[in-house]
Amino acid sequence: QDPRISKISSVIRVIPDFPKPGIMFQDITTLLLDTRAFRDTIDLFVERYRGKNISVVAGVEARGFIFGPPIALAIGAKFVPLRKPNKLPGEVISEEYSLEYGTDIMEMHVGAVQAGEHALIIDDLVATGGTLCAAIRLLERVGVHVVECACVIELLGLMGRERLGDTPLFVLVSST
Ligand code: PRP
Ligand code: MG
Repeated sequence: QDPRISKISSVIRVIPDFPKPGIMFQDITTLLLDTRAFRDTIDLFVERYRGKNISVVAGVEARGFIFGPPIALAIGAKFVPLRKPNKLPGEVISEEYSLEYGTDIMEMHVGAVQAGEHALIIDDLVATGGTLCAAIRLLERVGVHVVECACVIELLGLMGRERLGDTPLFVLVSST
């Protein structure tokens, strides 16, 4: 394994019982404080996706907005934000998705991507996979090919990877 991975893993802070009892929260803000680990995180993604003909990096609000833009700039792709409802000012398309309790909505600007483009979806973490599935549906509905989803952290045991179906998932760190 790449030696940069263990360093990245070591600076992700785990906070028990946040936001509610029983949840072990994976806090990437401590990764951002370590300039070497943050740079290595971006570099590992850039090394994987550079030269792969990806024209769109789609970042999932909120923490996909931290990792997505530097990757997009480095591989020469545009950055498209996938946002919570009623945040984007232009015309949008929406996807509803289920959370542990209730549902949420993800939106993307109409015209941000064109049919036939190749996209990479970025978020900080995959748990149940519901969020990434909504992102995949949004892009596929407008004819975009999702090459892969990429996250810093995968929470194992929640079947998130299985839920993504045919779309590959790449992660740096897996956590139980
Ligand atoms: C967290 C995390 C992922 C999502 C993963 O975001 O940042 O986006 O949950 O969960 P899933 O795989 O079960 O869908 P959250 O919804 O807490 O919002 P935030 O990023 O805006 O804080
Ligand atoms: Mg999130």
